Amino acid sequence: MKRRAIYPGSFDPLTNGHLDIIERACHLFDEVTVAILVNPNKAPMFTVEERIEILHEVLDAKFAQVNIDTFSGLLAEYAMKKRAQAVVRGIRAISDYEYELQMALMNRRLAPSVETIFLMAPQEYSFISSRLVKEVFKLGGSVEGFVPPFVIERMKNKI
Ligand code: PNS
Repeated sequence: MKRRAIYPGSFDPLTNGHLDIIERACHLFDEVTVAILVNPNKAPMFTVEERIEILHEVLDAKFAQVNIDTFSGLLAEYAMKKRAQAVVRGIRAISDYEYELQMALMNRRLAPSVETIFLMAPQEYSFISSRLVKEVFKLGGSVEGFVPPFVIERMKNKI
């Protein structure tokens, strides 16, 4: 039986922290679906189509077992529809844990067959988030080392 995992998120934009989690998940699962949440209530830096394009550009050549998808609505329902055994989430610091635990327990209630697996980001990425990357970039700071070079190029095109 193939071991399938969903790695859900906003990926606005993809960071090196996300990349690290994807690589770790690939060591554990036969198939990893990076699933972008389509959230009409948020004003993103990159459209869903742009995020799909960025993920393909950065991931396709590197990870054979990764596929890219989008979802809306409940993650638990999406994970069951995809027949995934697990949802993977990255934990950077203890502050992430409370929210992640809440989501994991709610998702377990909604989809008891789907396990949430927490993977630890390495220390050097523990302070990186998409939100901070966008803020630093918009205020003129360097985001080198925080996101893949292709993402930096795409961010520069945005201004
Ligand atoms: O990258 P993010 O923004 O931290 O990802 C959050 C995400 C997409 C995993 C979470 O918001 C989510 O699962 N949304 C889907 C809606 C849902 O299932 N809500 C109930 C969560 S218990």
